[in-house]
Amino acid sequence: MPHKKSKCILSRKAEEIPPFYVMDVLENAQKLEADGRDVIHLEIGEPDFPTAPHICEAASAALARGATKYTHSQGLPALREAIVESYREKFGVELSPEQVIVSSGTSPALLLTFLALLERRDEVVMSNPYYSCYPNFVKYLGGKPVYVYTNETDGFALEPETVQQYLNPSTKAVLINSPSNPCGHVMAAESLEGMAEVAGSIPIVSDEIYQGLVYSGDEHSILEYTDNAFVVNGFSKLYAMTGWRLGYVICPKECIRAFQKIHQNFFICANSFVQEAGIAALRGPQDHVAEMIKTYNKRRQYMLKRLIGMGLEVRSEPRGAFYVLADARKFSNDSLELSRRILNEAGVAVTPGIDFGEGAEGYLRFSYANNLKNIEEGMDRLELFLKKELEN
Ligand SMILES: Cc1ncc(COP(=O)(O)O)c(C=O)c1O
Repeated sequence: MPHKKSKCILSRKAEEIPPFYVMDVLENAQKLEADGRDVIHLEIGEPDFPTAPHICEAASAALARGATKYTHSQGLPALREAIVESYREKFGVELSPEQVIVSSGTSPALLLTFLALLERRDEVVMSNPYYSCYPNFVKYLGGKPVYVYTNETDGFALEPETVQQYLNPSTKAVLINSPSNPCGHVMAAESLEGMAEVAGSIPIVSDEIYQGLVYSGDEHSILEYTDNAFVVNGFSKLYAMTGWRLGYVICPKECIRAFQKIHQNFFICANSFVQEAGIAALRGPQDHVAEMIKTYNKRRQYMLKRLIGMGLEVRSEPRGAFYVLADARKFSNDSLELSRRILNEAGVAVTPGIDFGEGAEGYLRFSYANNLKNIEEGMDRLELFLKKELEN
């Protein structure tokens, strides 16, 4: 029998989905570390803080009680109550726990939302730079991301008047993210209100995962301005719970049943004992959160000063999340190659701007979700590297 030549069995979209470059950078850095190199991690958007003890204890107690079964497909009622309460307390909005679907992270909440919204060729308007995975969700489901290039001098703000120019009968959603990754931009109340107005009957998908991580000024939720919104949020960032995988989507009342059916089919429910931890996170003491915010802010100020001091430009101060997107075009227009060299030659892992779209090419994203000592060391190494670059 002649040997059959193996054919690729994957779908074209599986073959073509781009990597999440930051994970590639992390994995390359880990390879170097396995070979004995010392690497400072400023690439990954993962809080360096441990999850607070009372949250861990709630999960242990839940496990000990036997919380190892499926839960309601929308999530534990007590967790959904706690989520609704937190939105009421922070933003004064009245929601029903029925509107909440608890998921295994914000990423599945985003997938669920776009699974529910998109038909082939539907357009989703989003800013560029964007969070790396957004266009990949949309494209994978046959939709089309439509980019609105934002400007660093305006803090990369996505403004309603600009968005309005991109809306047409094929627009299925406007995607916003505040506080934003990678820019650290926090949308002003007027921008959110304006966005709700220009979107009108087009739903807004609002990724609020960095909610609470704001270092100056106030913050708002899109739900203060419209009910026609799908809000995704989660526990990864504010509560330092990345590995727990817990998030949720809040959707308009008339969409709940469809969301629930998709969730039942594709995910069943989120992890049961992790949901108990989520209740403890929202209902328990919040002083550890306040402490983390204070610490992030100190790191933010230090990092900004150092980056600007070594010739990387930051034209508007990031107010939220835990990132600085700095212009490195003085050194290279190829952010992927520059980040590779910084990792290999200086031992500092940073994320190439291209991970966040053409609008961030030539930029580098620095995460200050690492302790000050490491940030200092990372900045020292980077400064030396860039000095040499300018000399050569
Ligand atoms: C803007 C944004 N949305 C969603 C996510 C995914 O979060 P999760 O860990 O809850 O899946 C991230 C993670 O970095 C993010 O930055």
